[in-house]
Amino acid sequence: MSTLTFDATASQDLLDTAQALDPLTIELRRAIHHDPELGLQLPNTQKRIVDALTGLGLDITLGESTTSVVADLDTGRPGPTVLLRGDMDALPMTEDYVSDFQSQHEDRMHACGHDAHVAMLVSAAQLLSENSDELTGKVRFMFQPGEEGFHGARYMIEEGVLDGVDRAFAIHVLSNAPNGLIMCKGGPLMASADVFQYTIEGKGGHASMPHYTVDPIPAAAASVSALSTLVSREVDASKSGVVTVAHIEAGTTNNVIPPSAFVEGTIRTLDEETRNKLRAGVERVATGTAHAHGCGCSFEIVPGYPVTVNDVEQAKAAGEVASSLLGGDNFLEMPTAVMGAEDWSYVLQKVPGSMAFMGVCPDDLPIEQAAPNHSNLMRISESKLHYGVGLYAAMAMAR
Ligand code: NI
Repeated sequence: MSTLTFDATASQDLLDTAQALDPLTIELRRAIHHDPELGLQLPNTQKRIVDALTGLGLDITLGESTTSVVADLDTGRPGPTVLLRGDMDALPMTEDYVSDFQSQHEDRMHACGHDAHVAMLVSAAQLLSENSDELTGKVRFMFQPGEEGFHGARYMIEEGVLDGVDRAFAIHVLSNAPNGLIMCKGGPLMASADVFQYTIEGKGGHASMPHYTVDPIPAAAASVSALSTLVSREVDASKSGVVTVAHIEAGTTNNVIPPSAFVEGTIRTLDEETRNKLRAGVERVATGTAHAHGCGCSFEIVPGYPVTVNDVEQAKAAGEVASSLLGGDNFLEMPTAVMGAEDWSYVLQKVPGSMAFMGVCPDDLPIEQAAPNHSNLMRISESKLHYGVGLYAAMAMAR
């Protein structure tokens, strides 16, 4: 291949080859779905990946600080190194949808489709290694643990996963988008996500004699109200920001004023300037409001993932490849970013690349009834997983 587009015959051949791998893709996806693992240490998932890749002629490196897997396909011919990524981890929640391969663990579930990402990427590795005469350079398969808040990509970057990489591509499935639809855009794709936490410190006492106390509850309530005007009053209306208080805790019973109140929430933005502004603003408003009520305030930001920014050229390339492979009807240029977050952002800070979403709405459900990612009832269609396999492979073949 020498361009970004594939002619009709080449596209059909590639999709047929990807579809012929369906038994492998689906079996692996179900095995991982049945045995979800959390965080940075996923030994069973790692073993399944290594077993599936063994014999394909790939150079496999296991992570040192995590159970990551990096597999290189080296054609021996000069050319770029293209990185393809699949994240591996599940979520700490109970799966309530009954199937033969329902999670066997009460408190873990693949509710974000990372089981499908791993399976599609393993099949893409098989497809590409069997058709390596169509490639030049190298393809690096990045199997990454710890996407769900554990900064797994950062550990892999520290261990050198991006060394020599020229461009990078990832797919994320969405269970409430049309099955087989690929969606992408250049520029900001997903938000930054920082956690804020603060404790308002007052002085406890009898609920009948508040004048002997410094009540932290009105201060906490006032701070939540004050935070709700931050975005509307301080963020440029053409930019995006979300400040949500999601957790508030104080007191134990009806006749005791507690000594403190705890508040936490999330800050989402699509650019670093707004991110810094809102982080400082939340701290100023929370501590200032506490002080206005005679309370103290201990405040902390727990930094989360940065903004995920697709390289404009690479996102355009992904759109062209997807359109030529799957037909224009199966590609949508996204009009707006989404306010979820991704640690793929760390990769895109270092190398040009993109992430595309792929719809996997179950075949038996209308979109509006499909449980979204992170739902206890989330499930996916497996009937077009070969689109994802084909797209991964095509992104490595396209020049
Ligand atoms: Ni995810």
